[in-house]
Amino acid sequence: MIRAVLTGTGSALPARRVSNAELAERVDTTDEWIVERTGIRFRHIAGEGETTATLARDAAVAAIAAAGVTPQDIDLIVLATATPDNTFPATATKVQAMLGINDCVAFDVAAVCSGFLYAVQVADSMIRAGAHRRALVIGAETFSRLLDWEDRTTCVLFGDGAGAIVLEARDSADDNADPAARGILATRLHADGRHNELLYVDGGPSTTGTVGKLRMKGREVFRHAVINLAAVMEEALVAAGLPIEAVDWVVPHQANARILDATARKLSLPAEKVVMTVDQHANTSAASVPLALDQAVRDGRIQPGHIVVLEAMGGGFTWGAAVVRF
Ligand code: UT7
Repeated sequence: MIRAVLTGTGSALPARRVSNAELAERVDTTDEWIVERTGIRFRHIAGEGETTATLARDAAVAAIAAAGVTPQDIDLIVLATATPDNTFPATATKVQAMLGINDCVAFDVAAVCSGFLYAVQVADSMIRAGAHRRALVIGAETFSRLLDWEDRTTCVLFGDGAGAIVLEARDSADDNADPAARGILATRLHADGRHNELLYVDGGPSTTGTVGKLRMKGREVFRHAVINLAAVMEEALVAAGLPIEAVDWVVPHQANARILDATARKLSLPAEKVVMTVDQHANTSAASVPLALDQAVRDGRIQPGHIVVLEAMGGGFTWGAAVVRF
């Protein structure tokens, strides 16, 4: 059967790295509070000339090189973001132009922090349907530009960055338990719009005519995150026909180290199997999963044949998980 096989990863971060101590000079917070409540130590903040599209392009270039293909080989770009360069056109088309790809399908997906999981399922479906052979799936954000820098309950939590993967149509074994079954084995997505008001941006083109600022009721989001993430990971593994013991790595959305720990405990997953980058990147929304994935691939933790579970949850609420064999 045809599956979408992950053949390359890449990521990019803004040049400027900001410590908790530096933030504490601007808002009423401390390094101790941020580390204890979130695990965050640093975040990267986009500077002049750095945008969601430029970060996405840099991540895409690295992923394309890792896959050993050229930009002209890409026939689909799905870009997940809640911080597009412009309301329209889709940032995916800006990245397409930057890469010099003159004709392919390119569009954005808006599912906030779970955007990358949504984008993966869309690209996987389009590849398995035979419509496309080589997709670039990107998560890219500049949340620093949506933050209320007077609000200590949110501004310390987020950062900017981008991550990308190349998915290629390949012949693969049918049976997921067979090591020859490579690529995306299963995906599961959810949304529950009743929780819109717990995490949202208070502006938009059709309401205020402004960009707006991020607003979050953190404690409530936290509670839902642990329950939903554990459930959707289990669901995706059942769909893949694999037991939790088969999992080599979990690459979670990097919102809060305490959410990662609590979710792993709920599933009896050893903490050593959870890739954690929240300390270095903070919450980069749709970029966080592909950024962490690229790090674990490049430092050699994720190896060919490994079973990797990707998961995320965010505004909407939206949440999802994907099971991949490398
Ligand atoms: O990516 C989308 C998904 N997003 C998430 O998953 C975020 C989920 N939520 C969280 O990660 C956590 O709820 C937070 C990190 C946002 C907050 O941690 P918490 O342990 O839930 O703290 P809290 O909101 O209950 O606040 C505790 C105290 C409050 O003071 P009082 O009311 O107890 O006096 C806050 O005012 O901490 C205070 N506080 C701060 N203090 C110092 C809130 N932010 C700060 C701060 N520095 N930056």
